[in-house]
Amino acid sequence: MVVGALGLALAGGVQAADAYPSKPVTLVVPFSAGGPTDVVSRALGQAMARELGQSVVVENRLGAGGTVAAAFVARAQPDGYTILIHHNGMATAPALYKKLSYSPLKDFEYVGQVADVPMTLLGRKDLPPANAAELVKYVSQNKDKVSLANAGLGAVSQLCGLLFEEAVNVKMTSVPYQGTGPAMTALLGGQVDLLCDQTTSTLPHINASRVKLYGVTTPNRIKALPNAPTLQEGGLKGFSMKVWHGVYAPKGTPPAVVARLTKALQQALKDPVVAKRLDDLGAEIVPADKQTPEGLKTWLKAESEKWQPLLKTMKLEAD
Ligand code: MLT
Repeated sequence: MVVGALGLALAGGVQAADAYPSKPVTLVVPFSAGGPTDVVSRALGQAMARELGQSVVVENRLGAGGTVAAAFVARAQPDGYTILIHHNGMATAPALYKKLSYSPLKDFEYVGQVADVPMTLLGRKDLPPANAAELVKYVSQNKDKVSLANAGLGAVSQLCGLLFEEAVNVKMTSVPYQGTGPAMTALLGGQVDLLCDQTTSTLPHINASRVKLYGVTTPNRIKALPNAPTLQEGGLKGFSMKVWHGVYAPKGTPPAVVARLTKALQQALKDPVVAKRLDDLGAEIVPADKQTPEGLKTWLKAESEKWQPLLKTMKLEAD
């Protein structure tokens, strides 16, 4: 009896969605523990766990600018027990990796956006320029003698570095590391000159004057660093970069399960503990209309259309 079997299967699906979650949910993070994406993920995961009544286990799956983790979740069981948090890399990867095994716009269900994080352009403590205007002159005079660290192809630190190079029209020496942790260690140790990284990891170093701050990457000054000029104020016209985060589930995850995850995400973002933690990190919770499947999908599409053509002209592709 085909109809009966289908009916039973559907009833099973509804029941499964009703009972969801009946075991811990794994939140896959594409970057290293303690890094900028990880700290946002852990704050969110703990609060989502309270909402879901189940643990949310953060699993760091590193590699290839976040594409290893995204590919893993795209292929996971679509049952809501394996979900992904990712940043701008979801929009940029198709222009950076020739052999991407998933489509960010086709192979996922969209749970919602989380928070935006400004970036800061930093120099080693003893780098001669005192401000952004002097930095622009310095890099123009020293060109590839200036080294610019990043967390690898597809990392937002790399994207920000590329934008800086574009803005000053100078190609510097790019130094990729296996994450922003080692990139920051190299900056603190004076082995590299510059690093553009997220406030979620840079604030303590800026506040302790362990690095030189040349400016924030957002068009307006930020609450976490009210006295820090923007790079636009420093003369880099139109410079604008922020890191955004979305939560994804594999394509085919039942709509009721996605809705449950979205509700947990929205409730988590109302949690004062999460709000305080993100605020302390310089992150800003996105408005309610972005904390939705449609809000994330529309944003991902717009960001893909914005960045992919630009990155393709830079010919940065890896296998
Ligand atoms: C991280 O969490 O390590 C970062 O988000 C890496 C980056 O994209 O720069």
